[in-house]
Amino acid sequence: MKRAVSYNDVAAFVSMPLSSNDTEEDSTSSEEESESKSFPMKKLAIVMVGLPARGKTHIARYIARYLNWVGRTTRVFNVGNYRREILGASQPAQFFDPNNQEGRRARWELAIKCLDDLILWLKHQHGQVGIYDATNSTKERRKYVKERLETESIRVLFLESICEDKSIIEHNIMETKLRMPDYQNMDPERAVEDFQARIANYERANETIDDDEMVSYIKIINVGRTIMLHQLTGYLQGKLVSYLMNMHTLSRSIYLTRHGESEYNVEERLGGDPDLTEKGKRFAVKLAQYIHEEFTGQGKELPLIWTSQLRRSRHTVQFIPTHNVCWRALNEINAGVCEGKTLEEVKQQYPKLYEARLKDKLHFRYPGGESYVDVIQRLEPVMLEVERMREPILIVSHNAVIRAIYGFLIGKRQDECPNLEVPLHVVIKLTPRAYGCEETRIELNVEEDNETVDGSHLDSKLSTRSTKPPKQVFF
Ligand code: F6P
Repeated sequence: MKRAVSYNDVAAFVSMPLSSNDTEEDSTSSEEESESKSFPMKKLAIVMVGLPARGKTHIARYIARYLNWVGRTTRVFNVGNYRREILGASQPAQFFDPNNQEGRRARWELAIKCLDDLILWLKHQHGQVGIYDATNSTKERRKYVKERLETESIRVLFLESICEDKSIIEHNIMETKLRMPDYQNMDPERAVEDFQARIANYERANETIDDDEMVSYIKIINVGRTIMLHQLTGYLQGKLVSYLMNMHTLSRSIYLTRHGESEYNVEERLGGDPDLTEKGKRFAVKLAQYIHEEFTGQGKELPLIWTSQLRRSRHTVQFIPTHNVCWRALNEINAGVCEGKTLEEVKQQYPKLYEARLKDKLHFRYPGGESYVDVIQRLEPVMLEVERMREPILIVSHNAVIRAIYGFLIGKRQDECPNLEVPLHVVIKLTPRAYGCEETRIELNVEEDNETVDGSHLDSKLSTRSTKPPKQVFF
């Protein structure tokens, strides 16, 4: 049946949620029903496998961050946290000895308690992907986990991290394990010794996944130098593989900022392709200075520079003497029929649209334009590229887009992204670490001073400034 729609026929312009982002507090049976009717998706458990200090928790958290951002409600269930909470953080290496009957029993019970909670969450609290973060390093344990999950009709994917490179293991111990509550107040040398003894205990019982276990698995060997896949099917598994191929554990900083103030910012108009104001140009100068001090001034190479294809973002990097890649995917959210209008005009001309956006900013799609979900979808390849990069990157883009990227990097769910705070003229420096992202916000002063706005005064400061303007590559 054809339906005539006007721009105020709001239901027609709300993008269908592909997934539920509900938390456990707001579960209702009707939501459960509609979810299963519209999208009969089997729940997935990703079961981590591997000796301690092989980066399992890091990988688990990164996967959760990614899947939550693409709209799959994902949670990590870490058995170590259960142990710390129930038995206390400081268990000596002997506790992990496979011949220590008492330790074995206690560890088994904790593992089961954690698995029970994962199943409960997946089956009754709207969880979609549960990541079971434990060593699961014996066939016996994996058989039990697989059978339990399959009895509950949950699909199982094992993800084993194998690492034979001693320097990577040592780096992991120093970077992450010594910061754990397990070793608080312990002399670092003794802590390393104890952790090595813990690993040795696990090694005595360790069995890598075998094809005869009849399970789907991914093996990541030496931090992704080799990736092995076995019996993998399905869309989500495919997405996971491409994500894992791009992720790495090296630390580097990602700098995010919106363009300098534009003419439309002053008039409070949406979208368009306006140029920078005088203040916006001053930001471009200050940004170049900041980047110079952060990089060339410290003997480091300039970062990669990515902008949108819109004038206000390309002009914001005009004084940084290096090429920049202009991604169409980094353009601002397309406000469709509301492009170029002020919020007041939108309210007057399309009151229902205005209300609908207030109610559900994530899924609301501007007629003829986009929703935040659409923006996140088009940003996915850009984020995989960010994950792949080993060098620092400066991304200059727009309000909605920077919110979505920032949300991804700090591990927010989709529904949290549309309201994140990203003011103009602030550089957000993010440095991903194994257990979270370090964040610094640098506010650049754009009030008038004696400096010119054409960047000419920078020539003396920016020693690497080329005589030609930097090249812009459109992508
Ligand atoms: O107002 C500046 C702007 O970049 C607009 O072009 C864009 O429509 C808007 O911000 C996005 O922010 P919000 O989703 O909060 O409307």
